[in-house]
Amino acid sequence: MIKLRAYVQLLEKIPMTDTAKYRSYSQSEEFLHNFYSLSQTARIHSETHTLVIEGIEKFFESINNCMDDESLTIKISNDQLYVDDEKLFYNKTTKNLFDNIIRYFDTRCLDGMRLLETVKHASAEEILTFMRLIDNSGQQPEPLPWLTDGLAAENIEWVELIRKSERPQESCYKDKAERRERARRDYTYAMASIEEVAQKIVEKKSEVGIRKTVRVVEDMVTNLIEDDEVYSAISTLRVFDDYTYTHSVNVAMLSMCIGRRINFSRRTLVSLGICALFHDIGKIEIPREILYKKNKLDDREQKLIEQHSLNSARLLLRLKASADSKARLLVPMFEHHLKFDLSGYPHADWKKPLTLFGKIISIADKYDTLTSSRAYRQSLLSPDRALGYMYDRAGKDFDPILLKVFINIMGIYPVGTLLRLDTGELALVVSSPSRDFAKRPLVCILEREDDGSFKKKEIINLDERDPETGNYVKGIIETYHPSTLGIQPVQHIFSS
Ligand SMILES: [Fe+2]
Ligand SMILES: [Fe+2]
Repeated sequence: MIKLRAYVQLLEKIPMTDTAKYRSYSQSEEFLHNFYSLSQTARIHSETHTLVIEGIEKFFESINNCMDDESLTIKISNDQLYVDDEKLFYNKTTKNLFDNIIRYFDTRCLDGMRLLETVKHASAEEILTFMRLIDNSGQQPEPLPWLTDGLAAENIEWVELIRKSERPQESCYKDKAERRERARRDYTYAMASIEEVAQKIVEKKSEVGIRKTVRVVEDMVTNLIEDDEVYSAISTLRVFDDYTYTHSVNVAMLSMCIGRRINFSRRTLVSLGICALFHDIGKIEIPREILYKKNKLDDREQKLIEQHSLNSARLLLRLKASADSKARLLVPMFEHHLKFDLSGYPHADWKKPLTLFGKIISIADKYDTLTSSRAYRQSLLSPDRALGYMYDRAGKDFDPILLKVFINIMGIYPVGTLLRLDTGELALVVSSPSRDFAKRPLVCILEREDDGSFKKKEIINLDERDPETGNYVKGIIETYHPSTLGIQPVQHIFSS
């Protein structure tokens, strides 16, 4: 319980980053801080959570403090932030906050927003709905029309969106496509670099350099900070399904997405990425016939498999890296199959609570394992069922708070989930709204061709309702793992 409290405290820091830093904020900076904090808190917690309730109160408070005219505007121009006409200056204290806000609006194809005076009479529920709408718009292929429609549907009239003026919206959407392409490239480079390191280890080289891997992970972090949605999506799509190192890259990407959401620094994200990338490196010492055995493992084989986390930690010592970084990565590698309640393996008399890296990697690792079509697995879970399976084990196998963050990233129906709709159609999830907001994703309809393959048809929003009856136009009947019908989601979602 003490540990859980520690993590609640950690998550409390998500929006704050470092409370002490903000003491010297001006009122405008305080307003930006409260806006950004609330956007992050509302993403993770429900409306009844103390942090959300307090966040809304603070948001109102700063609106009242700052709005002396009829409106209050956040505007980005030439990478500078303005509140009304006041240009805010970067300093050590504000840099992180300002960068986050500029990126936040940029991902949503906005240059800012204007709150009208009537916002003062909005209900807490409305504020929260707005926060979740603007937050979710960042996950939509066309954020601005989606957000505008959402605000209209909720009758929220106290906010005006400032669309990007310097670049047309199309170029903003093109940016999204470019980010996807970058993520794809990162994926390939990461696979190549880990394969190279594994090869050198097999060749028994004593000190294996990992500078290239570090560079790849640094690039991944740069791109991930800009848009983490694309990384959670690409890792769940299993771009190269049969490839040996796909799992390692997926676990690295998903772990870094969690790290990003709990506000890890760039340096910590790089460490986490490297640790996750090498978490299973110890498997190279296990004979392939055991690693990929389809039938049940005997006791000896099971023991060999269970040694791999220990092997990973041991092999880490052969990598050329500073003693400090090795020390940081060693324990999480050892821990990645230990559960939150310290059961699992290795069966050591391990009484220490798991490290934060260890807990994050174990969540990403389990999700990827449950949804991957590995040769030795008999049954596959669709991504949403995998999350459900993990949710049932929150607090036992997984840190409940970190699992909540993870589910929030993935959405109820993660990207790549195959759905059977009540119209008889098959649909693939292409974008999933966050958990607390809505349960209905954006999907592309698939049509079966004469040769048995599937063709991508139109993209529709399952949140759409019939204006007359108020019922959803299409409902979800069943979910499947796409491979059960031989569907490769990446061909339909990430293809250019
Ligand atoms: Fe493992
Ligand atoms: Fe693993």
